[in-house]
Amino acid sequence: MGESQLWHAVDDYFAARLAPDDEALAAALRDSEAAGLPPIAVAPNQGKLLQLLARTQGARYILEIGTLGGYSTIWLARALPADGRLITLEYEPRHAEVATRNIGRAGLDRLVEVRVGPALESLPRLADENPPPFDLVFIDADKVNNPHYLEWALRLTRTGSLIVLDNVVRGGRVIDADSTAPDVLGTRAALDLIADHPRLTGTAVQTVGGKGYDGFALARVLE
Ligand code: SAH
Ligand code: DHB
Ligand code: MG
Repeated sequence: MGESQLWHAVDDYFAARLAPDDEALAAALRDSEAAGLPPIAVAPNQGKLLQLLARTQGARYILEIGTLGGYSTIWLARALPADGRLITLEYEPRHAEVATRNIGRAGLDRLVEVRVGPALESLPRLADENPPPFDLVFIDADKVNNPHYLEWALRLTRTGSLIVLDNVVRGGRVIDADSTAPDVLGTRAALDLIADHPRLTGTAVQTVGGKGYDGFALARVLE
């Protein structure tokens, strides 16, 4: 077995043991695929990690940027108490439609609100509503805008909130010094912000397995 096959097999083993899917999660992936959405939802292990982080945060308010078919949304919303709330922002009406169905089937429609439109338009509107600070923000949309999303996350959170930034490795492209790819530059600018911003401290972790070689960054909001 080659190394990457082995990573895949271990990922499957951990997922089967620790992050097994159920009817609602399986149906969300199935219907997303049937509707032609790209197969880029978080891996089961990462979905479970998001849920654990939300629980660790004692999260009541969660913001997600980049809904796709609502797979990560379901993992996250299941960490919420009955009076919690998750707002998820999605550019593509078609994705939002599929997600809304998937979230409803998971019995989470009372906790989750899908807002359609470019996140950089939805975020100022959301801020104007003066919502309670979000305890966790999951940033997983167009990577070029990652620094902007991080700035908005800072405005919409509190001391102690957690920000998760997905796809910071992209097969190692993140350290390609010659890269002019907008997603790479956006992600690097976001990592620089985490490193240099006085109100952020964070780290990044590489992942292997079912979704290939990638990773995520975690940042805690400081006083
Ligand atoms: N979080 C999802 C995956 C999201 S994929 C999961 O793990 O299940 C990225 C999503 O971001 C796509 O659905 C894409 O349409 C959306 N997106 C891209 N650009 C966007 C923008 N400017 N504003 C909001 N959503 C955007
Ligand atoms: C892509 C986007 C994602 O959010 C992800 O987790 C994997 C891939 C993409 O745009 O290719
Ligand atoms: Mg992602």
